[in-house]
Amino acid sequence: MRGELCVGSASVLSLVALLLLIFMHVGQINTSTVLEAYLWLTCLSYGNGLSAAIGDPVAGLYTSNASAPLEEHLGLRQIYKFGLYSHCAFVNTSGGICSNHSTANRFEPFTVITADMLTNYSSLTTALVTNVTIIDSPYLGEFTNGAYYLILIGTVCAALTLFTGLLKHTFLFLLSTAFAVIGSLTLLIGATIWTVIIKKTESINDFIVGPSTSPAPLGIIVTTGNALFLLWAAFACLIVSILPYMISCCTYRG
Ligand SMILES: *[C@@H]1O[C@H](CO)[C@@H](O)[C@H](O)[C@H]1NC(C)=O
Ligand SMILES: *[C@@H]1O[C@H](CO)[C@@H](O)[C@H](O)[C@H]1NC(C)=O
Repeated sequence: MRGELCVGSASVLSLVALLLLIFMHVGQINTSTVLEAYLWLTCLSYGNGLSAAIGDPVAGLYTSNASAPLEEHLGLRQIYKFGLYSHCAFVNTSGGICSNHSTANRFEPFTVITADMLTNYSSLTTALVTNVTIIDSPYLGEFTNGAYYLILIGTVCAALTLFTGLLKHTFLFLLSTAFAVIGSLTLLIGATIWTVIIKKTESINDFIVGPSTSPAPLGIIVTTGNALFLLWAAFACLIVSILPYMISCCTYRG
């Protein structure tokens, strides 16, 4: 009876981990504009920031056409959401489109937003924003590309943990334990990479422009999206399942 309880709780934990991860992946593969994002970039006030920086009014920075193609210098959008597979850009709270989906999409937010701006504004922006992590696209791209594969391996391991555990065999519980350990480890590293990257890109939130007599915020704001919380929750469930799987493989008599 004790063994059954152990197996049961281990299975529930790995099932929850797997469901959270599936939810996270599907929320990002979804072709609609609803996306389980790692990070939001709000550019709503960038017009004011840019105007304060150059000392002139800024016109035509944004596009109001929700379906205008992305990264073709057709105008900045107000809100960007970045996920594992793509990013979406919104002209208001609801209207927007997403980029093409490619696996292991690199997270290069500064490249994305400057590619949306009209060319004169993208060169101004590139000259204006310096010494913050968010402009270092090769660095962000490399690390998030690596994190993507780790999260994928972690997801496969969570599935294998659950299914080998369901077979209820002493040796297979050993295998479940091993998958849970490998999965937790890869999810831990993947989630850590994303957490560090998001923290580092947040330095743009405090970026000040304009003359020292009348400084103004840049107006580009980074916030953490839901996907990161799902990822950490999945990691927590999978790592907690290790102990009951381990106990099951020593004590279960199937
Ligand atoms: C918005 O962009 C789409 C795609 O380029 C284009 O077909 C459409 O005519 C544009 N709408 C307006 C109002 O400019
Ligand atoms: C958002 O923008 C789209 C396209 O310009 C428009 O059709 C829609 O009504 C807007 N929605 C809101 C809530 O303003």
